[in-house]
This record gives sequence, structure tokens and C-alpha cells, in this order.
Amino acid sequence: VRTQVVVIGAGPAGLVLANALQQAGIDCVVAERETRRHVVNRARAGMLEHRTVELLRGLGLADGLLAKGSRRSSCEFRWDDRRVVLRYGELTGGREHHVYPQQHLVADLLDAFTAHGGTVLFSHPAVALSAGTVTLWPPRAVAPIDIGCDFVAGCDGFHGISRRTLHEHVGLHERSYPFGWVTALIQPPGGTDEVVYALHPNGFAGRMPRTATTSRCYLQCATADQVRDWPDERVRDELGRRLGEALPVRAEIAEKSVMRLRSSMVGGMTHANVALLGDAAHLVTPAGAKGMNLAVQDAVALADGLRVHYREGLRDPLPRYGRERLDKAWLAQEFSHWMLDLISGPEPGDPFARNLRLARVRRLLESRSFATAFARTYVGM
Ligand code: APR
Repeated sequence: VRTQVVVIGAGPAGLVLANALQQAGIDCVVAERETRRHVVNRARAGMLEHRTVELLRGLGLADGLLAKGSRRSSCEFRWDDRRVVLRYGELTGGREHHVYPQQHLVADLLDAFTAHGGTVLFSHPAVALSAGTVTLWPPRAVAPIDIGCDFVAGCDGFHGISRRTLHEHVGLHERSYPFGWVTALIQPPGGTDEVVYALHPNGFAGRMPRTATTSRCYLQCATADQVRDWPDERVRDELGRRLGEALPVRAEIAEKSVMRLRSSMVGGMTHANVALLGDAAHLVTPAGAKGMNLAVQDAVALADGLRVHYREGLRDPLPRYGRERLDKAWLAQEFSHWMLDLISGPEPGDPFARNLRLARVRRLLESRSFATAFARTYVGM
């Protein structure tokens, strides 16, 4: 079997790439380890930047999110008894975030790709790859199959085989943080509202809307904490305390987990004819909501490079893709890192650190030039 591009992984990066290649008339096959049901139910990110939505719209892939998503152009910071709303849309000429759960976008992307004859091989993990061949293990098969190709697009996340295979060539730079975040999907009976960042002496708490009825909530915790340390009652109490609002006892709590916060960046996003995209190349913490946006933007950039390669004979399109996207990923990484430091720190209970953090938040909210610089980066201009 042979194709022009093998795409490994059917997350946002892989599926945006597959759709863009298909539209450019470039042959590709998507290989995904999990089932379709699994990937369209996997709840993760949900904030799409203005620029990401424009790119998706340009590919005709934004209908679902424009029809069913919601828009946000402000966020609220809370500390002590203060609640201050930052209207970043007003500082960016009306740019806003679109809120649409990642798994819904993935479902839309799958539908668009298959409706135009695209092939996604579900339950086909890639088990080996080289610059010109990807080896897949079909379900229940006794032997693997090889697919020959011109290019391999590694869109299989941080733990996928692509980054691991390229590791000795591209390396990895990592940072872990001395605290974790408990995350949970909450369905408050009254619906959900604003993005909230609360800086409480016990640590950070955040609330990010996902759909009209669900929010993803975050609670800073100790690195050693396990899910069993955070029964629903404790999550509810602590959210109520840190957000300064009682969470109704009837609010359903789902998909609770403890996230070890870390960031990582490959040293290079390409090697030979293999390109890394999305989480396979860079992990950012949820602070700043950059992960899904970077994944989509990587995919559009790679598809552009490959289109010029096949149409106009541009040789060797990968190095330029790798350089440009790694620079962008570092900018996003820096923002995410800065934002994490703004809202969350290793020292709940340390008044000096807390007051420094609060001074930084007040400067952000009180200085128009600081707020504008924040707003532009936050919304992805
Ligand atoms: N073979 C085939 N598929 C694989 C393999 C493998 N060996 N290993 C992993 N995969 C699949 C996973 O099952 C998953 O569906 O690759 C896909 C990777 O998708 P994502 O993790 O969603 O990564 P990406 O497309 O880069 O999107 C980044 O995801 O983690 C979130 O918040 C992050 O929003 C960001 C986004």
C-alpha cells in the first residue's frame, strides 16, 4: 500500500491536516490507535482563538463550532472579596474566543473528511515508522502492515510513537511544576458562565465554560495528591471556597482527575521526511488555553508547505515548517508559562509570594497597555 502522506493520530492536529490535504488533492491515510467512539468522546480543551477559527473557516471546517459553540471576550479575576472582569475583546478590536469542546470539533473534522471519501483507520496503532514507511497493527491481525509514503505526519500526542522515534534526533526540553491541578467537569444546574481565575490563599481555582451546561473546573493541589484525596464533596467545598460562590450540591461532578503540570518542547519539529505536530511536538499547560490552537495552526502550516511542494515543486518543505512552527510554539509556551505563574504558585500560605502575585494581577487589570498586550496574546493575535 502506498500514499503521499500518512497521518498518525486522529486528534485536532491529524484531522485538520487530513482535511486540508484532501482539499489540496494530496493523498493521505489517517491511522488512529483508538476507536472512533473513543476519540469523539474524549473531553479535553475547548477554547479556540480568533485566528484558529479563521483558519478553520477558511477550510470550511468551522460550521459546527460557529453554529453550536459560544463566544467569550472577557474573563474574571477573583481574590479576597474582589471580582474584576477583563474585557479583552474591547482591547483587541472585538477579537474573541470561541468555546467548543475539543471532542465536538474532532467529530466535525471526522465527518468532513470521511464525507469526501477520506479514510481513517481506527484501532490501527502505528508500531514503527521511518521516513518512508509507517507500520500499522490492524485489529486482530497476526502481522503488521506497511504503508509506504512520501511524508509522515506525527500527530499522535506526547506519548505517541512519532516523537519517541525521533527523540534521538530532535531531543526534548522539559519543565515540571511543583504543584498539580485537580480537574473536573461540572454541571451546575443553573448553567455556566464566565471564565474565572480565582487566586485564593489555599491556591488557584479556575472555571472554564465548555458547553451551555458544563464547565471544566481546576483546583490547585499538591503534586503527590491522588484522585482519591479529592472526593466530590471536597472538590465542591474547595471550589465554593476559592471561587467565592457556593456550588449547588446537586451539581454533577464528572471526569475527575489530577493533572501533573508540565511543559515540554522538542528541539526540532522535523527529521528527514517526518514532521511532528501538536502535542507530539509541544506540550503546554492548560493555562492560557494554547494547546488545541497550536495543534490546528501546525496542521494548516504543514498542509500549506506540502501543497506548495506538490504543486510547485518546492523541494524539502519540512525544514521551513519546523523552524516557523517551533518559533510560534515557543511564544505560546512562554505565554502559557507566564500565565501559569500569574495564577498558580507552589507556595499557598506564603504571604510574600501571594502579594507579589496579586500585585501582578492588579497591574494587569489597572494598566491599559499591560492589559492590551495580555489581551492580544491571550486571544491569539
Ligand atoms: N498510533 C496511532 N495513533 C496514536 C498512536 C499510535 N501509536 N499513539 C497515539 N495515537 C493517537 C491518540 O489516540 C490520539 O487520538 O493520536 C491522537 C493524538 O491526539 P491528541 O492527543 O488530541 O493530540 P493533538 O491532535 O496534537 O491535539 C492537541 O489535545 O491534549 C490535547 O489539550 C491538548 O488541545 C490539545 C490537543
